[in-house]
Amino acid sequence: MNTYFYEVFENIPRQGPGLNSSTRHAFECIKSDLPDEPVILDMGCGKGVQTLELAKISSGTITALDNHQYFLDVLTKEAEQKGYDNRIRTLNADMNKLPFDRKSFDLIWSEGAVFIIGIKEGLKKWRSLLKQGGFLVLSDLVWLSNNRPDNLTRYFEEECMYVLTIEQVLQEASQNGYTCVDHFTLPLEGWTREYIQPQEHVIEKLRKKYTGNSEARETFDSIEKERDIVMKYNEYFGYEFFILKIE
Ligand SMILES: C[S@@+](CC[C@H](N)C(=O)[O-])C[C@H]1O[C@@H](n2cnc3c(N)ncnc32)[C@H](O)[C@@H]1O
Repeated sequence: MNTYFYEVFENIPRQGPGLNSSTRHAFECIKSDLPDEPVILDMGCGKGVQTLELAKISSGTITALDNHQYFLDVLTKEAEQKGYDNRIRTLNADMNKLPFDRKSFDLIWSEGAVFIIGIKEGLKKWRSLLKQGGFLVLSDLVWLSNNRPDNLTRYFEEECMYVLTIEQVLQEASQNGYTCVDHFTLPLEGWTREYIQPQEHVIEKLRKKYTGNSEARETFDSIEKERDIVMKYNEYFGYEFFILKIE
């Protein structure tokens, strides 16, 4: 990810597809089984739209982890403004080298970020950070259909995205000792409203700012290609929320 990529994503509300209503829906599934003040880790939080929503709907303390400081600074400011600064702590860390003891969290939350280490790795590694009876809630890209166009499969292969079906994710989860409490697909609006639509305006401005810069142009082209793929093929793939529990 280069500087032009970050410049786009710093200027849009969310850094991945999502909706507060989906965050709330997923949290409702586990709320009554969590401690009153759960210890929560938000992995790959970005600017933290879902972190702030979690602070609003829970009484938990949240470690919001990302490796891009600008995103964390935005979240810190928002948390202060909303009065959550006593419950949200930002942490600049690499999810490949997590600085936590085993069994540190009641809940690990990760919207659209597990792909960075891969879902199989995420399920395996993050489990050890959960306390007994803890939960892992994540959203990740999955196939929603077994009959997909070849060029769509090729697109994800070229992007080095190893997409699983929902059943394959559930099987991986089960093999790693999780029980599935529930799962559901993020509505298309979760792609468009706070992720794709705001990109259009930002990219238009940045294309003007970086006229003649081929690296910038290629970066913007690739982001717009993702948008085109989503708008054309969203019946074949989507973001699935998985609400998982360990015993
Ligand atoms: C697709 S975004 C999702 C952000 C946020 N959860 C959301 O839904 O808006 C993935 C996030 O992971 C962060 N990230 C990328 N590589 C990382 C790493 N190795 N360790 C920690 N965070 C990382 C990025 O900076 C980015 O904020």
